[in-house]
Amino acid sequence: MFSGATIALSLLSLLLLSPVTLSDKCNPQDKKVLLQIKKDFNNPYLLSSWDPKTGCCGWYSIKCDEKTARVISLDISDSPTFTNFTGHIPPSVGDLPYLQSLTFHKLPYLTGPIQPAIAKLKNLKYLYIEYTNVSGPIPPFLAELKNLQNLHLSTNNLSGPIPSVLSQLPKLESLHLDRNKLTGPIPESFGSFKKPGPDLILSHNQLSGPIPASLGQLDPDRIDLSRNKLEGDASVFFGSRKKTQILDLSRNLLSFDFSNVDFPKQSLIWLDINHNKIYGKLPVALTKVENLQQFNVSYNRLCGEVPHGGTARLQDRFDKYVYLHNKCLCGSPLPKCK
Ligand SMILES: *[C@@H]1O[C@H](CO)[C@@H](O)[C@H](O)[C@H]1NC(C)=O
Ligand SMILES: *[C@@H]1O[C@H](CO)[C@@H](O)[C@H](O)[C@H]1NC(C)=O
Ligand SMILES: *[C@@H]1O[C@H](CO)[C@@H](O)[C@H](O)[C@H]1NC(C)=O
Ligand SMILES: *[C@@H]1O[C@H](CO)[C@@H](O)[C@H](O)[C@H]1NC(C)=O
Repeated sequence: MFSGATIALSLLSLLLLSPVTLSDKCNPQDKKVLLQIKKDFNNPYLLSSWDPKTGCCGWYSIKCDEKTARVISLDISDSPTFTNFTGHIPPSVGDLPYLQSLTFHKLPYLTGPIQPAIAKLKNLKYLYIEYTNVSGPIPPFLAELKNLQNLHLSTNNLSGPIPSVLSQLPKLESLHLDRNKLTGPIPESFGSFKKPGPDLILSHNQLSGPIPASLGQLDPDRIDLSRNKLEGDASVFFGSRKKTQILDLSRNLLSFDFSNVDFPKQSLIWLDINHNKIYGKLPVALTKVENLQQFNVSYNRLCGEVPHGGTARLQDRFDKYVYLHNKCLCGSPLPKCK
């Protein structure tokens, strides 16, 4: 058994044996680049811990590899106390060759484009630029970052189309482009993402055109296309063998017959199609969707009786508000069918 004293003693000897901790270390080249980044951002308050007299692995927002002491993560996020971090993402961020994770988060005065030098960061797995005012297009060069797993560009001022080449990212697990000003269609190429395809969060944009039939190949955990101007047939997202858990197609212009779509028994927990032009009946297959927690078909053009029974027992779980404003839905919890 260890006593408190032995633990203290071994901790002490550990300290004596390895007096240099990771935070004191720093690859000199990486340090030079970080100081350049600080300078390019005009020495912001947020980076005041980036003191040239100390090792960069201990600086705020930096993580180093434990063995090589190379910088692998740079995460510039606004602290709860509002700071005045302003400027563009500088080209110097492209000079941290071992970077695996790059984050700019909650920086309302971060403007300008997604910096082209980011294309040099071939080890990047996670790119998060969220809640900033970064603008311009989503650059196609991001498709050159073959190790990307998460590409999250939510809540910025990005505009223009979604580049179709993003489907060439072989390891992509989640693509979040929601809450921007993106226009144009969802690229047809997105059907060729490596199976099951990344979580696809494209909501709150101005995307238009039909849902490409090729997207039926995808089966990620989450698909959120809500609040766009998408049209046509979204039935490719349905089927008894799908694994998708969250499917939000609400507030679009989708128009297809809902009568015969099928669902998996268990995986689906969130199905929202409210505010579209979807017609036909509520499919009987809904009565087997056991784990549905969020469900909303209001504001469509559906007609006929709300299906009852089955293991799903919709009638016990959802009130009339999930069915309102359709063409002629009827039956509990709505008024009786005539
Ligand atoms: C802006 O940042 C500077 C340091 O770069 C700091 O001295 C100043 O107090 C900050 N202003 C506000 C309003 O936070
Ligand atoms: C972008 O800038 C506008 C205007 O300055 C501001 O209202 C908005 O909150 C900013 N966006 C973000 C995500 O910080
Ligand atoms: C947002 O982008 C538009 C161009 O699409 C630009 O005119 C505007 O200044 C940008 N807003 C901010 C706060 O950067
Ligand atoms: C369903 O959507 C409608 C329209 O957006 C909304 O008013 C209603 O509260 C929603 N109901 C549920 C349970 O989400």
